[in-house]
This record gives sequence, C-alpha cells and structure tokens, in this order.
Amino acid sequence: MSGEVLNSDSYQETVVKSGVKRLTLTDFRNYAYLRLNTALNPIIITGENGTGKTNILEAISFLTPGRGLRGAKLSDIKRISPALVSNDYVPSATWAVSATICTNGEETEIGTGVESSTREYEDEMRAYDRRIVKIDGQKITSQSELGRYLSAIWLTPQMDRLFRGGSQPRRSFLDRLVYAFDIEHAKRTSNFEHLYKEWFQLIKSGKTDGHWLASIEEEMAGIGVAIAAARREQIARLNTFIQKEPDDVFPNVELSLEGTIEQMLDSKPAIDVEDYYIGSLQKQRKNVLYSEFVDGVNRTDFKVFYKKKRMPAELCSTGEQKSLLISIILAQTKCQTLDKGFPPVLLLDEVVAHLDDVKREALLEKIRDLNIQAWITSTDASLFESMRDCSQFFEIRNNQIEEI
Ligand SMILES: Nc1ncnc2c1ncn2[C@@H]1O[C@H](COP(=O)(O)OP(=O)(O)OP(=O)(O)O)[C@@H](O)[C@H]1O
Ligand SMILES: [Mg+2]
Repeated sequence: MSGEVLNSDSYQETVVKSGVKRLTLTDFRNYAYLRLNTALNPIIITGENGTGKTNILEAISFLTPGRGLRGAKLSDIKRISPALVSNDYVPSATWAVSATICTNGEETEIGTGVESSTREYEDEMRAYDRRIVKIDGQKITSQSELGRYLSAIWLTPQMDRLFRGGSQPRRSFLDRLVYAFDIEHAKRTSNFEHLYKEWFQLIKSGKTDGHWLASIEEEMAGIGVAIAAARREQIARLNTFIQKEPDDVFPNVELSLEGTIEQMLDSKPAIDVEDYYIGSLQKQRKNVLYSEFVDGVNRTDFKVFYKKKRMPAELCSTGEQKSLLISIILAQTKCQTLDKGFPPVLLLDEVVAHLDDVKREALLEKIRDLNIQAWITSTDASLFESMRDCSQFFEIRNNQIEEI
C-alpha cells in the first residue's frame, strides 16, 4: 500500500480508465466465434434466458488469475455442438479468449485458453487439458501475472447465497479482493492448494515416514502465514476505508476474519505463528485418516456485519445481503483505484434483479460516478434508461451479439 490514508475525495483525479477494449471468443461455450469492440465505459448486455450473457462475463473473468466466475472445469467450456448423426455431443478440441486490455493508459494483448497435452499415467499415455496464458504473445508460467494488467470483481446470482452456505466461496471472494493489491497472493493460494492435496494424499497412502511430509508441512505453514497476513491487511484496509464512506442505500459494513492463524497474528510475531502451524499440521495428520477437518488457512471464514442494523450478514434478507455485497465491491473498487490508479472491471451478472427501483438507480449512479468499465447483464434493457448516454448497449440473439 502506498502509505497515505486512502480517501474517496481524491478518487476522480486518480482514476485512469481501464478495462477490456477488444474481446474475442473462439469455441467458448455457446460461441463459435465472437468479437466485441468496447469502450472503457459501462456495457449493458441484454438477451433472453440462455442466450449467452453470463458466458461473456465468464470469458472476461478468465483474463484474471483463477478458475473464472463459475469455477468451471476447463473441459466444460469447450463449445459443444450437437452431432449430426447421433445424440452424442461433440465438444471442440480447444477454446480461447483473447483481449486488448487497457491498464493505466497502456495496451496489452492477453490471451488464454486450453491446450491438449499428454501425460504418462500408470504406464499409459493419456490426454489432458492445460490452461495456457499469453501476454503480448509470450507464454507465461504463472497466471498471477495477469493481475498486473486486469483485475475483475464479479457478482453473480449464485452469490446471493454467499453469506449463508459453507465458507469456501466467501474465502475465494476475499482472496480475489486481496489479489488486486498483492498479486503474489494468487500464487500463494494456488501453491497452498497444491501442497495441501499432496500432503493429504501422502498421509492417506500411509507414506508418513521420512522428511518429505515434514518438508511439505513447513512449506504449507510458511505460505499459510503469508496468506493469513495478506487477508488481514486487506480487511484492515477496507474497514478503514468504509468508515469514511456514506452510509446510504448500500450500508456500511464491518469485515472480519474467523481463523486460527489469522487470529494468532493479532498477538504473536509471524515466525512464532509459523512454528505453531507446523506443529498443528503434524498433530492433524490423524485428522486426515479419520476424515476430520484440518484447521488452518484452508478453513478461514470471512465475516460481514451490517453496522447500522447490528446484524451479521447471514441473518439479513436476500436484498439486504445483496446490498452488503455491493457495498464491499464499491469500497474495493475505490480503494483499489486510489492505490493503483487503475480500477477493476466489474462483472455484474443480473445484479439489478433483486434490487428495488431506488437501489437500482443508486447503483447505476455509483457506477457512472466511479468512471469504470462495468459489464452488466439483464434480460430487460428498459431498466437501464438512465445509462443511455454513458454506456454501450449490446443485445445477444442466435449466439451473436449486436450493438444497439
Ligand atoms: N460448453 C458449452 N457448449 C455450448 N453451449 C454451452 C456450453 N456451456 C453452456 N452452454 C450454453 O450456453 C447458453 C448460454 O448460457 P448463459 O449462462 O451464458 O446464458 P444467459 O444468457 O446468462 O442466461 P440466463 O438469463 O438464464 O442467465 C446456455 O444455453 C448453455 O446451455
Ligand atoms: Mg446468466
């Protein structure tokens, strides 16, 4: 972080329009080929159910680190076209998304997709899909690099239940907010996930002797403490920022973390917490065998509190929960722009569906004031009359998109 206290008064002088300028999809879900030229302004995409609105937002989410807005398997994205002679489905061999990205006034070409490779598996060669990422034509090895050029925050109808279900989606939501400020965080969370799987498999297979397991635990503890520290920093940054924001239709929230490692960092130096974590993983080897949960940064929960109502988010109404989420992403957008100069792209899937007229217009006004590229989908274009003079409108029909 740049050091000085972030303040929304200087937002307008700081913001440099950023986002996706040209987007091309090839064999991506329902699109054989789609090309879109966009301005760095709000983009309203309308179409009937099942026409491919969410698929476009998903494609953009693949230009940032991670598994995209649906967390889909790479193979599910390959375009399925019904076979002519049988009832089978024939997926395309690959898929690709490419785009010209504008970041702080500079343009970069980003491309991603899958490549089929073969791998030896129990003496047999099998084909598997691998995601590749190219920046200005050069293949890169770590997806986290994408975070230097584009960051995206999304809200989808599935996230209406974010505060009610298990902690995993909340943790991913928070981790994505961290990526924007600390691009190493994407690498850390993905490394931790790989190490956790390896650790789990080793214990399950009974290979618990030797140094291998201990060295994995040491690495997990080191990365785990770094993950916890980065999450804490993001929560503190957002809480400080939100306190100075107006408490209006999108109410002020208080964010917190519930996690052993994160809480320990309140009172202990990181090095001591790391030692504790190593010991704790050793003790928890038996939990893997008895299928009990393993405590650590893989279980941390992200808690949200509606300040004025003094109510935890999970007890709020559906509409209120959506407003709380909107508050968080608006604060993150401003905070990130003030810190980095370039704002995130917002991917708002059916975001106005559960909002009353007052909230819908308030959200659209905030998006206009933020001066950002927000991709907004809806089945009803008439809800966006107030955006006519500042947005691009597209309509999807028959797997093709047209500017209207
Ligand atoms: N791999 C694939 N190949 C071809 N079509 C697919 C693939 N995956 C999904 N689809 C189809 O893409 C279509 C568009 O899906 P999408 O979720 O983008 O629709 P939508 O416009 O957002 O609809 P809704 O308004 O209901 O949310 C759906 O009919 C879906 O079945
Ligand atoms: Mg949809």
